[in-house]
Amino acid sequence: MNRGSYYLKPDVVAEPLVDGWYAWAHLIPPATFSRNLTERHLKIIESYIESPETHEAAVKDPKLLGGPFMDLRQRRVEDVRKLRERTLRERSHLISLSRDIEALDRLLREKAAGFSLEPLYAEVPQALRGYVELVYDLNNQPSFRLIEPLLYKSPFYNCQLQAIALSEISSDDRPFVLSTPRLEDDHGLHLQIPFASERLDALFRMKREPSALNAIRDALDLGNGHDSRFQSLLTAEPPPPYVAYDGDAARWRYFGHACILLETRGVNVLLDPVLSYTYESDISRYTYDDLPDVLDYVLITHNHQDHILFETLLQLRHRIRQIVVPRSSGGALQDPSLKLLLKQCGFQNVMEISEMEEIAFPGGSITALPFLGEHGDLNVLTKSAYLLRTGKHKLLFAADSCNISPEIYRHVHREVGDVDALFVGMECDGAPVSWIYGPLLTQRLERQKDHSRRLAGSNYERALGMVEQFRCKEVYVYAMGQEPWLNHVMSIKYTEKSNPIIHSNRLMETCQNRGITAERLFGEKEILLH
Ligand SMILES: [Fe+2]
Ligand SMILES: [Fe+2]
Repeated sequence: MNRGSYYLKPDVVAEPLVDGWYAWAHLIPPATFSRNLTERHLKIIESYIESPETHEAAVKDPKLLGGPFMDLRQRRVEDVRKLRERTLRERSHLISLSRDIEALDRLLREKAAGFSLEPLYAEVPQALRGYVELVYDLNNQPSFRLIEPLLYKSPFYNCQLQAIALSEISSDDRPFVLSTPRLEDDHGLHLQIPFASERLDALFRMKREPSALNAIRDALDLGNGHDSRFQSLLTAEPPPPYVAYDGDAARWRYFGHACILLETRGVNVLLDPVLSYTYESDISRYTYDDLPDVLDYVLITHNHQDHILFETLLQLRHRIRQIVVPRSSGGALQDPSLKLLLKQCGFQNVMEISEMEEIAFPGGSITALPFLGEHGDLNVLTKSAYLLRTGKHKLLFAADSCNISPEIYRHVHREVGDVDALFVGMECDGAPVSWIYGPLLTQRLERQKDHSRRLAGSNYERALGMVEQFRCKEVYVYAMGQEPWLNHVMSIKYTEKSNPIIHSNRLMETCQNRGITAERLFGEKEILLH
């Protein structure tokens, strides 16, 4: 297999890892990573060592899907013990950072009583010195903001912890990523390459452009030991050619969950890229093979792992002209800047957008609209719905926006007018706030409070409120986490009795009774606009 040119096989999974854990967005910024390291990873590790049988049973229980249990497929206590020792030994500075975030919160609780905060700078815990500004809100509640760009330049950010694990898959079955470390040996070929490296672009270009084996081997700096394993991931067979839309209006295609490609003759826009690889399945779907070679705009709605997925984004990076992200609040621990985060990961053209801002493109525009709730009442600004205009068509992608204050969309409607098609997420139960944000909370949140603050999208009434407000002619329920190729980031299994299904069924029925096209998307869908 030394001669000729090769492509990367379409069933090769490329999992980005940080320190052996699946790289979701909170594992990139040093502060959120340090908190997840001590409050999620080490706790799961301890619990597994103590009782591996509990974890083995829990991952088989559908009621506990997405819980803090390792899905290792076989007992690996010794390996997990080694992981704990390595983590404690080699990540001690990140453990200190996490402890010092707790200590700073404690300091502010105890000593910031409305008087000047200036004397407290001398007491800021060591790891955070020079990386925080202390502030009050207008109710004299103290907090701090992180100087995020400096933290990325500090020893707390180490791109050498980043790696890509390559392996082939043949089904949708993958372990849940937030709670299962990727131990060496069980996930194919681990390439110790920082995410920002152009070497990854060279690798992922091979999905469509062939490369000589020697050239890619040199580019990736592969040692001889990896040769046969790497070669098994390549094929001489070219992928099917991509047939772009060439009509006069537009075409959209649903790739699963919140991932939708809108193509006009000149411009294409991809929302919340989360893609399936290509392999045999009973569920028909679009995959990486069904994307154009150039993506003019990639839009990210919010910073949840089912909407911003590095695994997909890194593989598309070389094709992306512009990636549009919502602006963050600036330094809040729970709201890291997506622009900074993506730039650290090698994305060059990242544009931040604020509510009601617009980007024009030939024949259309993208407008960022308010995205309400769904973040457990934490002050997170990094969330945006998007209104796409193309020709005479207007499509509103609301993602997980929970319409808790319909008056806001009344004001929005006054500005943008009626909408033809609404795409709305209705995961209306939602996980408690601690599911994603628990490691960032430095004081225990009582269970009842935790369960009252949910990461929930719109229910029937709220979604219908949007349909009525924007006088939509078509409604598509999406972002429901039902596609099995999202199991590794979502872990949702609905039954007919699940609220998201009951509420979305009711919405579809009401809409259809009113002559509005309504459908809950699943798998794949194509619509041609005229
Ligand atoms: Fe979400
Ligand atoms: Fe979501």
